[in-house]
Amino acid sequence: MNTRLVELATAVIERNGGTVDCGSMAEFDCASYNADVHRDDRFPAGADELRRRLEATDALVVSSPEYNASVPGVLKNAIDWVSRFHPQPFHERHTLLLSASPSMVGGNRGAWALRVPFEHLGARVYPDMFSLAQAHLAFDDDGEIANAELRRRFEATIVGFMDLAEAAKHYPCVKTAWVEYLGEHPEPAVDRVQ
Ligand SMILES: Cc1cc2nc3c(=O)[nH]c(=O)nc-3n(C[C@H](O)[C@H](O)[C@H](O)COP(=O)(O)O)c2cc1C
Repeated sequence: MNTRLVELATAVIERNGGTVDCGSMAEFDCASYNADVHRDDRFPAGADELRRRLEATDALVVSSPEYNASVPGVLKNAIDWVSRFHPQPFHERHTLLLSASPSMVGGNRGAWALRVPFEHLGARVYPDMFSLAQAHLAFDDDGEIANAELRRRFEATIVGFMDLAEAAKHYPCVKTAWVEYLGEHPEPAVDRVQ
């Protein structure tokens, strides 16, 4: 289900002028983190591959299921390994979180849990997330999100994220200051308040 959501996200990004390097966790497989192994500065090949691929990108999109209301261990383990590289490649990396699961909350608790390590590592985690509820029923025969309103929200979330990543890359003022910037016109009725 998350693979399908990633394929749809890839299509949206490419339609809107981006290029995508699509990875799956099988490419970033790491043995369980072990400080005794790492002490000699030895990293699993999967961690090195994830670091290399991250460093070649302007932004990161992750789609993950939730396991027991949290981050799947395989993903957290890979984040832990990669966090030990210097420079640490999640730092200041614009990151969008997606999730899909058969449940009514679409893996959203896992996405919230994933914010914690990413934000701890200085990733710029986009305020909006997209979680596809009842994902086993949510795709039509062509593999698109069947519900038109959800499809519109999915695309709008990704395009808003791309606008921010693009601005952060090209405008130094956005690069140095993390501001919540959704690219929307001011509208007092819906503006976020502190
Ligand atoms: C160990 C384990 C724990 C799970 N815990 C949850 C959960 O807390 N919430 C949920 O919505 N789904 C849970 N699931 C179901 C997954 O969301 C489901 O396997 C889903 O298909 C995973 O997405 P995928 O198709 O992209 O692999 C769990 C599955 C496993 C294997």
